[in-house]
Amino acid sequence: MRTIIEPFRIKMTEPLGITTAVERKKKLKAAHYNVFLIDAEHVTIDLLTDSGTGAMSAQQWAAMMVGDESYAGSKSWHRFNDTVQDITGLKHIFPTHQGRAAERILAATRLKPGQIVPNNSHFDTTRANIEYVGAVAFDLPCPRSRDLYSSVPFKGDMDVAKLEQLIKDKGARNIPFGMITVTNNTGGGQPVSMKNIADVKRVLKKHKIPLVIDCCRFAENAYFIQRHEKGYANKSLLQIAQEMFSYADAATMSAKKDGLANIGGFLACNNDEWAEHFRNLLILTEGFPTYGGLAGRDLEAIAVGLYEALDADYQHYRHATVGYIAARMIKLGIPIVQPPGGHAVFIDAAGFCPHLKADQFPGIGLTNALYLEGGVRAVELGSVMFGRRDAKTKVEIAAPNELVRVYTQSHFDYVIEVLAQIYKDRKKIPGHRIVRQPPFLRHFTAHFAPH
Ligand SMILES: Cc1ncc(COP(=O)(O)O)c(C=O)c1O
Repeated sequence: MRTIIEPFRIKMTEPLGITTAVERKKKLKAAHYNVFLIDAEHVTIDLLTDSGTGAMSAQQWAAMMVGDESYAGSKSWHRFNDTVQDITGLKHIFPTHQGRAAERILAATRLKPGQIVPNNSHFDTTRANIEYVGAVAFDLPCPRSRDLYSSVPFKGDMDVAKLEQLIKDKGARNIPFGMITVTNNTGGGQPVSMKNIADVKRVLKKHKIPLVIDCCRFAENAYFIQRHEKGYANKSLLQIAQEMFSYADAATMSAKKDGLANIGGFLACNNDEWAEHFRNLLILTEGFPTYGGLAGRDLEAIAVGLYEALDADYQHYRHATVGYIAARMIKLGIPIVQPPGGHAVFIDAAGFCPHLKADQFPGIGLTNALYLEGGVRAVELGSVMFGRRDAKTKVEIAAPNELVRVYTQSHFDYVIEVLAQIYKDRKKIPGHRIVRQPPFLRHFTAHFAPH
């Protein structure tokens, strides 16, 4: 059959927030034109993020019921630990309440002011945690990523030549570790090839610099490798993930992505001395090492979710959904980053609103227009989120991932209809200015005003 159906059926429903245009206008104004500040009950289709917003499976809920809430050494901890070790092969595993907690512990224990961390592209929380301790987050995206519209695969790769140059210029002793983010969320959700991970590792190893993988979307990345990289078509997603992790000395994870859970994460490493420092700070700020920042039932849900994310049918359906949305947008002439990533479709907001300059924040204009037109919540991923360092970034996220277990095709058809309407009237989308902003991660709480 040609139709790719949802590989699940639905047992429970939740009503959507249906609002009128007049109500949405009022809500957006009250939220200072920042969709993060709108209450979820006033959003019809919530595509703000895939982070922790997915639907769990019956197996995950069942596992939660047997969650062992013992403070130390619970059965749920062992199940979690065994699962993460099976997939990553890493020796020390520390549960954290989410990805940024793992990043904070890594940054606080391994970095000193002025030191440098290269990455294909840092996610905003990774960058913020590195900068918070006075270190420098350095992005080294591959040259292919600059052309938003080219469909070449693996545009999430790191520029290996630039990595070598950076090490030469700054000195290996000023680079306590290098990172690679799979998939490259900031770079349009683009995957990283196995070859690139191996090349990055080779360069870092030559200089005795450990490699940390930000593995939030490791299963999605494994799917791209299986589909598009020579030699992997007959390997399972688990085998591919294990090979990816074989290059890692440590990993940070948000289980709210490819853990398919509503909360959670982990920090993992091989080095015993690193582990000792991680453990000490974990106890101080997250919890005892066998639960970190999580309940036993969360550890269970993640242990099941990590394997479910590696399920071939699930990944196939998820990628087909994103591909379907992307194809419909392309047909309408909407400028999107190509090829589409695995967890989202990214709209080139500057291309969508050519009448707006970068300092008029076209991404905010487009996000707000989506809400006003149809109660659709998306997120700006550009000059507001990364503005201080990278004012030219100009993409906009549109339709996130685990949400493919939350929303169905007709919901996405509705989103396309809303977008089509906005695209027709795009010249009316106003520019915005910032009225108030915090010093870190400003996109979450900044206030805007339309021009
Ligand atoms: C690539 C990447 N790294 C880190 C994080 C941070 O994870 P969390 O939101 O669980 O703190 C995210 C979240 O979106 C992400 O996409």
